[in-house]
Amino acid sequence: MTADAAAPQPTRQPRPVEEFGPGSVTVPPPGDPATFPALQTEIRELARKQNAVILAHSYERAEIQDVADHVGDSLRLSRVAASAPESTIVFCGVSFMAETAKILSPSKRVLLPDIKAGCSLADSITVEQLRSWKAEHRGAVVVSYVNTTAAVKAESDYCCTSSNAKAVIDAIPAEKQILFLPDMFLGLWLQRVTGRKLTIWLGECHVHAGITPADVERLRQAEPGAELLVHPECGCTSQVLEAATDDAAFGGAPRKPVHILSTEGMVTYAQQSPAESFLIATETGILHRLEKKAPGKRFVPVNREAVCQYMKLTTLAKLRDSLVLGQFEIDVPAETSIRARRALERMIAIS
Ligand code: 13P
Ligand code: SF4
Repeated sequence: MTADAAAPQPTRQPRPVEEFGPGSVTVPPPGDPATFPALQTEIRELARKQNAVILAHSYERAEIQDVADHVGDSLRLSRVAASAPESTIVFCGVSFMAETAKILSPSKRVLLPDIKAGCSLADSITVEQLRSWKAEHRGAVVVSYVNTTAAVKAESDYCCTSSNAKAVIDAIPAEKQILFLPDMFLGLWLQRVTGRKLTIWLGECHVHAGITPADVERLRQAEPGAELLVHPECGCTSQVLEAATDDAAFGGAPRKPVHILSTEGMVTYAQQSPAESFLIATETGILHRLEKKAPGKRFVPVNREAVCQYMKLTTLAKLRDSLVLGQFEIDVPAETSIRARRALERMIAIS
């Protein structure tokens, strides 16, 4: 793994991915597509009877996105979870998202269809590591990406998502030291766009870290007319931005600008842009949403292997079982929840 050579280096050494990686997770087959319509009808009926709202992240399987009440990025789904009138929230996503929903709506039942749906990025910092990091930097403001455990959020001053990370950093007084965690690539990009020096934890998402500058360059050469949309968790972000300003290195031909966007930002951008083709650097589940929301446009994944095994654990059968069996119910200890809620409410208030 490399960091942007031009930017101040993040602190800490990465943990070897074997310690927390998705190796133990087996992605289940989707089942027979011919069974999907009947399963989706059954799920909708169960949700209606149980007064449940189904939320799905944009990285979920297409058939899960299609049966959900709301599909979106972390910020949008957190906002929906905070205000949903239903008594049950079924979160088709990963565990930190279901925990976030529970913290924001503590009186509701929150279900996660597969309890193994974790996140390598959230696992890249423990609450003990955060406590000792804070002890080394007393007085610093802690900004945690929403991809963290509830215990880590409880030790944080602010949460943010990729949609509002810049606005959150901008809201903190300039003289304050900021500890930013856990994603180093997002942290490096934030330094660039805010002009602030951040103290950055050296964590990463195994999916986005695997999207390399070489992947981007290959596609840009092959598709010179396409616009490039990059999620800030990507391992290529800093180098792609450097290359974007260096036309001479690419034969002097002006290059199309690079857009660094959250998943929801990509959808909005693609809808509004006059361009017909887009190169997409993030988890491939977003392609289904992009194709639905911007019909007639062409979306090419920068890396077809960029698949989050955790997100793909949720199948229609598991979602149905979740509603039938009331599993897996997510709970967050009250003391952790109260402290984490403060940081999350600040996140929701800033956009
Ligand atoms: P957003 O949904 O905030 O763009 O984040 C992407 C992600 O990796 C969620 O796990
Ligand atoms: Fe976590 Fe990465 Fe999967 Fe998002 S894509 S849930 S950050 S492992």
